[in-house]
Amino acid sequence: MADRIVKRFTSKKGNEVVLRYPTPTDFADMYSFACDIGSEDTFVALDAPPTEAEEHDFFERMIREVKEKESIYLMAYVDGAFAGNGRVNRGKGRHRHTGSMGISLRSAFRGGGIGTELMKSLIDEARTLGLRLLTLTCFETNAPALHVYEKLGFQKAGVIPGAIAYKGQYIGEVHYYLPLI
Ligand SMILES: CC(C)(COP(=O)(O)OP(=O)(O)OC[C@H]1O[C@@H](n2cnc3c(N)ncnc32)[C@H](O)[C@@H]1OP(=O)(O)O)[C@@H](O)C(=O)NCCC(=O)NCCS
Repeated sequence: MADRIVKRFTSKKGNEVVLRYPTPTDFADMYSFACDIGSEDTFVALDAPPTEAEEHDFFERMIREVKEKESIYLMAYVDGAFAGNGRVNRGKGRHRHTGSMGISLRSAFRGGGIGTELMKSLIDEARTLGLRLLTLTCFETNAPALHVYEKLGFQKAGVIPGAIAYKGQYIGEVHYYLPLI
């Protein structure tokens, strides 16, 4: 499973993209990426750069969960540079047939169709894992992400008003689901 390539394609901007499972040697790429995304303070849960120890714990769990088929993580490399990643985390107990998703790319790599292809690959891998339902949440003001999810067939379950504190405001959180069978 480790480092298995699931897709190669050319982005809309003409870059060569590889989507693959992570390897234990990806830590430096992941930490640098998490620091960039945390510093950007964008539409993700991470609102500041993690410490190296926090990221190390996260990374170890990520590698373990992929190995145990409890999670899917796909890394996006663009012309050899780490651009971002996406995940599906299998639910526990009565939610074991479901997976919760998340995705983010470094700002320089957005708008080239990579997020769409990454989402499609995560959905394909989730089907292979036998999951029946995917869920995700999104900031109500994140127009490109809302567009991508709805384009791929995600249904809006509803919006929780004011669920997210972001840049001095309380904004809505959209809840989406995608049945896989
Ligand atoms: C969300 C994200 C993963 C999407 O990845 P991406 O590679 O930029 O997405 P794509 O290029 O595949 O698709 C973007 C789509 O949004 C559309 N779009 C861009 N700006 C838009 C806007 N203001 N309103 C509506 N649609 C918009 C584009 O036209 C494109 O759609 P199309 O392919 O049908 O033309 C990426 O922007 C990102 O990492 N953002 C920061 C982190 C984040 O928001 N993560 C998601 C948390 S829920």
